[in-house]
Amino acid sequence: MIRIRFLSADGDHATEIDAAPGARLLDVAQAAGQPLEGTCEGQMACSTCHVIVAADDFGRLPPASEEEEDMLDLAANVTRCSRLSCQIWLGDDHDGLTVRMPGASRNMQGR
Ligand code: FES
Repeated sequence: MIRIRFLSADGDHATEIDAAPGARLLDVAQAAGQPLEGTCEGQMACSTCHVIVAADDFGRLPPASEEEEDMLDLAANVTRCSRLSCQIWLGDDHDGLTVRMPGASRNMQGR
C-alpha cells in the first residue's frame, strides 16, 4: 500500500489514506471523502477532478497529455502543478504523494 495525503483548499486540513498501487487518484480521493465530482468519469470532458499536486511531488508524476493540458486550461484556480486526477494512476513510487483541492467552483454558486 502507498499513502496519499489530501489537503483542503485552504491547506488547513489534511486527510491521509492508504491506496493500492494501480488505483486511480480520482477514485482514491473520492474514497477519502474529497470534494471532487469527476463528472465525466475520466473522459477528460469536465475538469471537476482537478487537483493541485504539491510542488515537490509534481515531478514524480508522468507528464500530462495534450488533451489533459487543454482541459486544465478550462479549470478554475489552475496552477503550474495542476493535474486531472482521473488521469493519474498511482504506482509504488508515489508513496507520500500530496495533493490539494483547488476549491473554486463551490464559491461560484453564490451561496
Ligand atoms: Fe472529468 Fe477527470 S473526471 S476530466
